[in-house]
Amino acid sequence: MSGAVEATGLVKRYKEVTALDGLDLHVPEGTVLALLGPNGAGKTTAVSILATLLQPDAGSATVAGADLLASPAEVRRRIGLSGQFAAVDEHLTGFENLDMIGRLYHLGRAAARARARALLERFNLTAAADRPVKTYSGGMRRRLDLAGAIVAEPPVLFLDEPTTGLDPRGRTEMWGVIRALVGRGTTLLLTTQYLEEADQLADDIVVIDHGREIAHGTADELKARVGGERIEITVTSPDAVEPARLILDRFSDGRAQVARSRTVTAPISGGPGAFREVLAAIEEAAIAVYDVGLRRPTLDDVFLALTGHAAQPSEEAEPNGEAS
Ligand SMILES: Nc1ncnc2c1ncn2[C@@H]1O[C@H](COP(=O)(O)OP(=O)(O)O)[C@@H](O)[C@H]1O
Ligand SMILES: [Mg+2]
Repeated sequence: MSGAVEATGLVKRYKEVTALDGLDLHVPEGTVLALLGPNGAGKTTAVSILATLLQPDAGSATVAGADLLASPAEVRRRIGLSGQFAAVDEHLTGFENLDMIGRLYHLGRAAARARARALLERFNLTAAADRPVKTYSGGMRRRLDLAGAIVAEPPVLFLDEPTTGLDPRGRTEMWGVIRALVGRGTTLLLTTQYLEEADQLADDIVVIDHGREIAHGTADELKARVGGERIEITVTSPDAVEPARLILDRFSDGRAQVARSRTVTAPISGGPGAFREVLAAIEEAAIAVYDVGLRRPTLDDVFLALTGHAAQPSEEAEPNGEAS
């Protein structure tokens, strides 16, 4: 029972859907655990249970030393939660939102104001402090929501998909803010659909699918299981998929896979030299190629390698600039 979060055998069922199917989680104090999985994997369900918003059908947990089932109010006092959809009040300013939360936590008028100002500064929102939140960008809303979650300085923080829907700049800013928080000793459990995000922020990663752990390790360990860098070839004709796959098999010890209808991927070691050899082989076989590239592994690659099937396609995983 040493961790800030210790969960054993969490189960949650919704009629025929088993959202969580016996999930164990262990987050040592002061560390970051990423729960990585595609849409529908059970991430929000897990976070909601640990934050006392949902009752599990089975399993038990302690959070920040308090028992989830026996002392939910105590758990609530010791955690912060920032959800997938920012819970700030549109009509209030950024300052008013944080000031209100501070008063709800009985910080006292002067302390609540000071805390709001300090958080706005820390989260790079001072210039927008006195504007209504409805004028904020998606990234600014997510940062304000996160600021609201830490007004009471909880030792354990849950962030549910903190960057989904943000553009690349908003995502990078959010990563900076999260890193700074963790640097102050907060224990963090975050969920994400991006292997890269887990890689950037987490000490430890649990990959889940259908409410169950399918892999567990550091980002480097997971990437090693996927085989490091990937070569990805998209051919112009469906007939060319199998010949392209056979060529990639040759360069990857039989680890080539068809990722999408006309796209074949394989882990490749040997850098640019190996890359050129593959291109030469493709050219020699007169395979017409639409696109070819080298890229770092994604959650999709982890899924292909671990389960033999791609992660379910997800609209939400597409960065679209603004979260609503
Ligand atoms: N209130 C609900 N009623 C019925 N099914 C639900 C409900 N909430 C979640 N589910 C189902 O449980 C599974 C896990 O959902 P969720 O935890 O939201 O996944 P994630 O956050 O990883 O996208 C999904 O199949 C989802 O459709
Ligand atoms: Mg979710």
